[in-house]
Amino acid sequence: MPLHIIVGAQWGDEGKGRITDLLSADAVAVARFSGGDNAGHTVTVDAPGGPQIFKLHLLPSGLVHPHVVGVLGHGMVVNPSRLLAEMDRLRASGASVTPERVKLSAAAHLITPAHVALDQADEAARSAPSAGGKIGTTGRGIGPAYTDKTARRGLRAELMLDPARLGDRVLEHVRAANLTLERIYARPPLDAAAVAAEYTSYARALAPYLAETSLYLHGQLRAGAAVLAEGAQGTLLDLNTGTYPFVTSSSPTSGGAFVGLGLGPQFAGRIIGVTKVFQTRVGEGPFPTEAFGPEAERLRGTGANPWDEFGTTTGRPRRCGWLDLVLLRYAIRVNGITELVLTKLDVLAGLEQVRLCTGYEAGDQRYEELPWGPADLAPFRPIYESMPGWAEDSSGARTLADLPAQARCYVRRIEALTGVPVSLISVGPERSQIVPAR
Ligand code: IMP
Repeated sequence: MPLHIIVGAQWGDEGKGRITDLLSADAVAVARFSGGDNAGHTVTVDAPGGPQIFKLHLLPSGLVHPHVVGVLGHGMVVNPSRLLAEMDRLRASGASVTPERVKLSAAAHLITPAHVALDQADEAARSAPSAGGKIGTTGRGIGPAYTDKTARRGLRAELMLDPARLGDRVLEHVRAANLTLERIYARPPLDAAAVAAEYTSYARALAPYLAETSLYLHGQLRAGAAVLAEGAQGTLLDLNTGTYPFVTSSSPTSGGAFVGLGLGPQFAGRIIGVTKVFQTRVGEGPFPTEAFGPEAERLRGTGANPWDEFGTTTGRPRRCGWLDLVLLRYAIRVNGITELVLTKLDVLAGLEQVRLCTGYEAGDQRYEELPWGPADLAPFRPIYESMPGWAEDSSGARTLADLPAQARCYVRRIEALTGVPVSLISVGPERSQIVPAR
């Protein structure tokens, strides 16, 4: 009765969607446990007319498999308009999207246009030099929705069981948000009655999907089925363990999976940490191994391919740099990662040398672990180990033996420096482009 947990070991965008898709083949249910439509999971499925690309923001990516039940857990914040649109898109691709297949936790929280407006107003206000700088949020209302949740005035999905009551609560919520928008941010107010009417109609559409998802998942696990917890974002964006304040407002780490699904840790199975073989980040905040100029462009790609390093949700170019093992060891520790999945090994082909950050230095001190956690990385300079690169294109590799010898050495070196085995390596965006690491 295992609950396998997939977490991002970096700042999100590690390629978790691909791995979730692969492991979903053996799972009965795949559950998102944190975040909202700030996430963007790309899954490429081989189809008769050429590869079919799914970009999912709220629905678990495992739903691409017809046998999987997708769960949106307690810990999520859900924008109903975006959820309905995403359901329609998935349906249009031929998938069945019914209450039997999609279960929305009654305890998840709803995002409204007022949360989105507050997020955008707050970001704009932070850009002022005296205000501490922008977070670089996705502008999807995530922070304000979690703020309302922790302030105990949030709109839980269960309100959709009573559309009239939801309408009243939304009216009251938008009116309160309007005071902040107008008086603090000097922004125009929203039409509270129109938003309330909109949410009443969403309630009618989504009420059939509401479920006691903890009970459902518990039942499946007790019956011996495998459930996959699909992480969004990454360890370094976690509200507790991330590079605060440049973080999201939820807990995308393995601990967040238990809280966000309403399950106890006795079910834990594999804890799978997904990391690219290099480092990327969108939004603001420290990034010790960040590369610039041609080196960064080489890792980022041009944007011609959907899997190049441009945000799935916002289209922003991602900041790119070398793999940081200080941060990876930290992610392994705080999540209890039992195995690593390496993604995008193919991108490194053609580089004369590949680099790994094995430690940091500050003044005359060397560090292999972060002395104070990752919040203030600014004082540290990375210490690199260089290894010979490889020229051969590895995107066609399907077994370890197909990989160039130097690429295999690079993978083994990551294992040696982290003490955690690598189970899978991705060498391209398609389902088949996966290499077992043993
Ligand atoms: P928010 O989650 O929209 O509040 O954004 C907070 C920070 O998390 C920003 O730096 C975002 O760029 C980052 N972020 C949020 N979701 C993702 C994601 O799915 N991938 C990468 N970065 C993300």
